[in-house]
Amino acid sequence: MKLPKILVARAVFPETVARLRTHFEVEDNPSDTVFDAAELSRRLQGKVGAFTTGSERIDAALLDAHPQLRVVANMAVGYNNFDIPACTARGVLATNTPDVLTETTADFGFALMMATARRMAESEAFLRRGEWTKWTYDMFTGSDVHGSTLGILGMGRIGQGVARRGALGFGMRVIYHNRSRLLPEQEAPIGARYVDKATLLREADHLVLVLPYSASSHHAIGAAELAAMKPTATLTNIARGGIVDDAALAQALRERRIAAAGLDVFEGEPRVHPDLLTLPNVVLTPHIASASVATRRAMAELAADNLIAALTGGVPPTPINPEVLAQKGAA
Ligand code: GLV
Repeated sequence: MKLPKILVARAVFPETVARLRTHFEVEDNPSDTVFDAAELSRRLQGKVGAFTTGSERIDAALLDAHPQLRVVANMAVGYNNFDIPACTARGVLATNTPDVLTETTADFGFALMMATARRMAESEAFLRRGEWTKWTYDMFTGSDVHGSTLGILGMGRIGQGVARRGALGFGMRVIYHNRSRLLPEQEAPIGARYVDKATLLREADHLVLVLPYSASSHHAIGAAELAAMKPTATLTNIARGGIVDDAALAQALRERRIAAAGLDVFEGEPRVHPDLLTLPNVVLTPHIASASVATRRAMAELAADNLIAALTGGVPPTPINPEVLAQKGAA
């Protein structure tokens, strides 16, 4: 029997690829080349499914070139690399990997915020350079995390995870802004207060960004928003590049209009704005918030579960556009 053909667009755990091979004829990418649009399209010839990461753009032009494609499974919770309306209009199921990464990503967001507030990267670099010759009363003094005000922009599952850590572990006062307000029973255990964006910017000691990227969140933090923050505040971005105007942030950090920033995501990554690389008061990490071994395995397996279910008559666990399944069910 001829197996359906799928593309695994990037290198992933060999066990996951082996499992996919029990259901499909798999073209994989063990050398982990990042395909440009033309190469991705070439590789998708004859494929009914694609296992993707945030690096592969699935848009209307690509879908039109591959009418045989039925499912695109992203190994990521974010899916701004997918044109969802274009997928839905063509009956292509899109899936992502929510839930399995929530706590790991919240751990990292909290750690990055703490490293930023307590100047860990800057002081470590100083030590490694051999510049530590004596204790000094004000050496690398930062700002307290415990008892301070934690601001969260984007209060989804990960935002709530960060808020829980701050409120329950560090006695932080939590304020947040989101498209929609949480239910009272979600706010109460962490004492979270819903505020407008201006209040969030004005009152947060530590502002953490955890909102999805879209045209409406592009440069949600730019020069004006940075100017509205406290000069002692920190900004942490574990969401997506493009939510922060990185050039404006570099200028604000240089002029100490905010104290420091922690960035795991960047506009145009893996390129990083050159000014950010030269500034001491920013902690930079290469998009690793979900990168624990267990969580990356769980993400890969969930993406595979989605592909297998979608192409073998099962129920994909985490569809982004379930209306495609409903259309198919009705057909
Ligand atoms: C990572 O950025 C993800 O969206 O899972």
